[in-house]
Amino acid sequence: MCGIVAYVGSKDAAPILLEGLQRLEYRGYDSAGLAIVNKTLRTRKVKGRVADLAAAVPARFKGGVGIGHTRWATHGVPSDVNAHPHVDGAERVAVVHNGIIENADELRAKLTVDGATFTSETDSEVLAHLIARTVKDTDSLEEAVRTALKRVVGTYGIAVLDAERPGEVVVARNGSPIVLGIGEKEMFAASDVAALVRYTRQVVHLEDGELATIKADGFHTFTMDATETAKEPLTVDWDAGHYDTGGYEHYLLKEISEQPETVARTLRGRVDDRFHIAHLGGLNLTPHETRAFRRVKIIGCGSAYYSGQIGAQLVEELARVPADAEPASEFRYRNPVVEHDTLYVAISQSGETYDTLAAVQELKRKGGRVLGIVNTVGSAIARECDGGIYLHAGPEVSVASTKAFTSTAVAFALLALHFGRVHDLSPADGRRICEGLRRLPAQIEEILAKDDEIAGLARKYADHAGMMFIGRVRGYPVAREGAQKLKEISYVHAEAYPASELKHGPLALIGPDMPTVAIVPDDELLDKNLTTLGEIRARGGRVLMVGHRAADPRLADDCVVVPKNETELDPILLTIPLQLLAYHAAVALERDVDKPRNLAKSVTVE
Ligand code: F6R
Repeated sequence: MCGIVAYVGSKDAAPILLEGLQRLEYRGYDSAGLAIVNKTLRTRKVKGRVADLAAAVPARFKGGVGIGHTRWATHGVPSDVNAHPHVDGAERVAVVHNGIIENADELRAKLTVDGATFTSETDSEVLAHLIARTVKDTDSLEEAVRTALKRVVGTYGIAVLDAERPGEVVVARNGSPIVLGIGEKEMFAASDVAALVRYTRQVVHLEDGELATIKADGFHTFTMDATETAKEPLTVDWDAGHYDTGGYEHYLLKEISEQPETVARTLRGRVDDRFHIAHLGGLNLTPHETRAFRRVKIIGCGSAYYSGQIGAQLVEELARVPADAEPASEFRYRNPVVEHDTLYVAISQSGETYDTLAAVQELKRKGGRVLGIVNTVGSAIARECDGGIYLHAGPEVSVASTKAFTSTAVAFALLALHFGRVHDLSPADGRRICEGLRRLPAQIEEILAKDDEIAGLARKYADHAGMMFIGRVRGYPVAREGAQKLKEISYVHAEAYPASELKHGPLALIGPDMPTVAIVPDDELLDKNLTTLGEIRARGGRVLMVGHRAADPRLADDCVVVPKNETELDPILLTIPLQLLAYHAAVALERDVDKPRNLAKSVTVE
């Protein structure tokens, strides 16, 4: 959600900032802007994409220090004026900001009385005016930023430029990530390593409440009360190639296609064929502690929450421990009862989703034990948790989550196997699950090989105003995720229901104009599901069945046959064709597949 890049060095800042912004565009893409210092402060900002900004930057826009931003609007519509950087009236200080300033109205009113003139509708502009007021009276940009931030209530990742100090940029973090990149006689800062990996893989993550000054010859970090902090640089695993489309037309298709490999990475070194257990060193739980948990509560947002529903089902089935999933965005607001014998599991691809982070923090405040299932190593949620499982799925760039969803479900299968074997899952069943897990990558390949067939179906169904997705028990979270993927990238209305609930209301929607995607695995509920298909067909509804055997033409118009695994693991595979269905529907409808309207990757605001 919004992206920040900053550069200090001897090269021209603008091309480096533009390249960084391009890498961050998946985080926000309604407007973009740059500021550099070349004797005076110079800014360029436009409504639109980074490419529009690049076209608007003149050739003479030269200077070796600068900051840039790509925006996802929260306060004020997307427009040139509301785009960042924001500058003070004297055009001395420029600021880019991710997050939300909660007391912006109050600060704006006070600054206006003091003579400041505001040009935008954003909350962020107050930061430029606040810092500019202080920087006049002190000889230090650091001090001016610290002093200004003490008056601010809210979340921020910021980068600040002062025309009078052209050799430095000050950055600060509170609830919105900032990472420094260490180069050769040059320094970078960004809201995401994606913007840095082309230039350096040596990075330093700031903590909440921490600030840093970057100069060409290095950096130093400090706290809000000016105490210096010591930081150890980390080496990022991923290089620039991991952030490219790799010859695919869209990141989304690349990420769907990577799943045999990403699932293999999630499993690597974790399946023990001797004792039929899972090795999950990062949990930091002894078998004794594991046995003591009487319940598992899973939290996450959006697709992460749906993968948590698959996870809850796996934990109940394999470990016979009660488990359920809830949106983190709801959980955090309902003053949850936190029990010492419940294990809490937070899921996040980005590791930054604000609602999930806030829920984890609330749990920790109340003494809850929280594990994280997270993709981004070293992210805020990963650091906040007591232990967890990294997905190792690699960077996910497309806004819609696919490979992280699948890897999360696989991580839950490992967690459930671990719990199961600590409880009463027999070695024979443990072995069955281990073998099933090992079959997943090749079976995903088999599903991906059906790409043309699924593309044809997507074209056939894409022009409907709405679609129903149904599934029973294990199939229900699959249906929810299928509907989520379709609606977010194709904008086709999609509704997911438990198949068992259809006749309690939504059957009224069924007719020739409302096709149903039915998840029909070969499990103990097969007959029930087939009865539901009969009910849909009797009302003239069209059915696209996703299951393990060819459909009876009386019950389904079309069918995608998916390879069968162990019943508990089948939901993992049943999701893959729905990802391809949504992708091809979005392509057929000429949508912006990787950057769907109104959305952004990593929702770092409330
Ligand atoms: C949907 C999607 C979102 C995310 C959600 C949580 O395709 O990507 O629903 O799953 O915003 O994001 P993370 O997993 O980063 O916490």
